Amino acid sequence: MTKHVPPAEQDTDFRSEILQGLTAERKAISSKWLYDDVGSHLFEAITELDAYYPTRTELGILEAKVRDFARLPGARGAMVELGSGSSRKTNLLLGAFPDLSVYMPIDISANHLKEAAGRVRRAYPSLAVIPIAADFTQPLGKLPLLPELPVLVFFPGSTIGNFEKSEAVVLLKSIRDAMPEAHMIIGVDRPKGEAVLVEAYDDPAGVTAAFNLNLLQRINRSLGADFELSRFRHRALWNAEESRIEMHLESLADQTVRIGDTDIRFASGETIHTENSHKYDDRAFAEITSRSGWRVLDTDTDPDGLFSVLTLQAQSLP
Ligand code: AVJ
Repeated sequence: MTKHVPPAEQDTDFRSEILQGLTAERKAISSKWLYDDVGSHLFEAITELDAYYPTRTELGILEAKVRDFARLPGARGAMVELGSGSSRKTNLLLGAFPDLSVYMPIDISANHLKEAAGRVRRAYPSLAVIPIAADFTQPLGKLPLLPELPVLVFFPGSTIGNFEKSEAVVLLKSIRDAMPEAHMIIGVDRPKGEAVLVEAYDDPAGVTAAFNLNLLQRINRSLGADFELSRFRHRALWNAEESRIEMHLESLADQTVRIGDTDIRFASGETIHTENSHKYDDRAFAEITSRSGWRVLDTDTDPDGLFSVLTLQAQSLP
């Protein structure tokens, strides 16, 4: 497998980012660190929950549109997929693109990627599968050059919602710069009633709670920390002003946690902010695309208006 970011380098990044995030005035850790092997599997379990509407809703929109997508030039060239999409979405597109020659999934979780790439290779033996273990929030300029093929970027799951607005613009710009003639199919979750949102991110079965708390276990495992998981709880909050769901880990007591030789003090009720999931209506997302050099060709939404799938085209550089 192509290793865009060597694992050792990722370990160093993990340690320094965690220490920096936990010693800051307001404790926060980037949501990308939720996806170790355990976290990736827990996320797959989330996508199967009744409470978590985005996956099945997006899949329904993709099913209705897939014949149109098959006419995009990249469907006969290279499909670059960002983030560990659910395999059902990938399979839907691969099954509908018989003339695709390259499939390049990019994901931060190397093992998850390896499994997914293996499944695709077995199902589509004539497809060139080129998995890239990389943090796609870092500049994409170092991607292995794609042969002279038209490119279709597939960025499902509303993963774009995990970024601050300004970061989302930077990311979409960097994708355009790396693949200047591409089309992109991108999933975007829309604002809706607070109760539905909070239930989706704090499901009754507790899978999302386990997904969030696994971050503390990961820090214990790989940095030798002594977080007691029973002394923290998962919280999902709707931040109306920012139009986003926030996940936090709330300390249930005044306590001190040790990471190596660093002491981290928590007041009771203090939280670690672990994820943002921004919800965009069409107008709000149009601002992101226009600022990042993408033109919206199509917007498709489910009948209940829960989720959108947009077809974008890279604008030629000025
Ligand atoms: C796949 C990152 C978009 O924000 O909805 C699911 C992650 N977090 N439940 C999302 C997630 C909690 C998910 N993304």
